[in-house]
Amino acid sequence: MYDKEKIIPGLIIFFFVLTFPFWYNLGQAAYKTPEPKLPVNVKKCIEDTKWMRANHMEMLNEWRDMVVRHDMTHYVNSAGKNYEISLQKTCMKCHTSKKEFCDKCHVKVSVSPYCWDCHVAPEEVTNGQ
Ligand code: HEC
Ligand code: HEC
Ligand code: HEC
Repeated sequence: MYDKEKIIPGLIIFFFVLTFPFWYNLGQAAYKTPEPKLPVNVKKCIEDTKWMRANHMEMLNEWRDMVVRHDMTHYVNSAGKNYEISLQKTCMKCHTSKKEFCDKCHVKVSVSPYCWDCHVAPEEVTNGQ
């Protein structure tokens, strides 16, 4: 009664068509992931990388308040390590290029923090790296 020869390939094609948007989007998502250039001589950020990815904006706000409002100069991370609170001297000491790091993500999500109107970004090295 049933024509197995036709139904099985038919089902396979149907399944592919049904799930196509899913596979297609997967490819797109992977393509769009920004690739900030990470430091080479250090392995760890101040806090966990995933946490930093999601929370660095709040962290920077908090840092500014600590300095400007509470006269604090140092930040102790969750592992007990002490850092001087400074966008320029601490963050940018490891992340030596605003262009290759900060901007790589920010351009993709269309944010352009105004911080650099006042804070000095590291000089960009232009020897082809
Ligand atoms: C001691 C060096 C060091 C300092 C200081 C530092 N970072 Fe990092 N940061 C790193 C390293 C190394 C990584 C990548 C870690 C990894 O590969 O898991 C990283 C990762 C990140 C990421 C995630 C990148 C990604 O690919 O998702 C963000 C965002 C970030 N840092 C922002 C900051 C900010 C903002 C500051 C200052 C508040 C800061 N970092 C200070 C070394 C540092
Ligand atoms: C892994 C990707 C990534 C990296 C690297 C990164 N950022 Fe961001 N940053 C984001 C995203 C995504 C947002 C927007 C979050 C939102 O819309 O809430 C953001 C927002 C911000 C904001 C808030 C801006 C606003 O208008 O809300 C500041 C400040 C900021 N980033 C500073 C930095 C600095 C400084 C660096 C480099 C040391 C850096 N970021 C590196 C992804 C990144
Ligand atoms: C109008 C100028 C101006 C802008 C714009 C600005 N800042 Fe600041 N920021 C200052 C000044 C002035 C201080 C105080 C410096 C001090 O007391 O050492 C400061 C202090 C800080 C500090 C603590 C000390 C340091 O040297 O890093 C952080 C962190 C900080 N700002 C982050 C940010 C971030 C993030 C942005 C963008 C979202 C931003 N600032 C935008 C002027 C500015």
